[in-house]
Amino acid sequence: MDLVTWDKSYSVSVECCDAEHRKLFFLLNALHEAMKAGHSRAILAGTVHDLEKYTETHFRAEEALMQRAQYPKLPEHRLEHQKFVAQVKQFRHDLETGGTCDPNAVVMFVGDWLAKHIMQTDKMYSNHLNSHGIN
Ligand SMILES: [Fe+2]
Ligand SMILES: [Fe+2]
Repeated sequence: MDLVTWDKSYSVSVECCDAEHRKLFFLLNALHEAMKAGHSRAILAGTVHDLEKYTETHFRAEEALMQRAQYPKLPEHRLEHQKFVAQVKQFRHDLETGGTCDPNAVVMFVGDWLAKHIMQTDKMYSNHLNSHGIN
């Protein structure tokens, strides 16, 4: 069973962001599956890397939309993105180098962060972006 399932309650009212969030959930579920299957830390690190790369792609696209709409909360939103990417990179580095981080804790952290960030921080831009013709 999937760890997280995207449904309408996650919608931020901007079609491309919703599509990217769905893909992030898909990658997170793939990581969760790989972990449950007992894959090595090296393989998990590769899966975390996929998630990290796509997260960066999504954040860039999302920030560009906020910039285009001159969204006033962009600086703090970007900071949240940057902190998350730094944390995920650290987890990946730890997995790659035989550190002590627990893969299950990584999956839980990423899942909680994504759900909370979409529900609280991303949803805050919906009205502003929609009112600037970004849907
Ligand atoms: Fe965001
Ligand atoms: Fe987002």
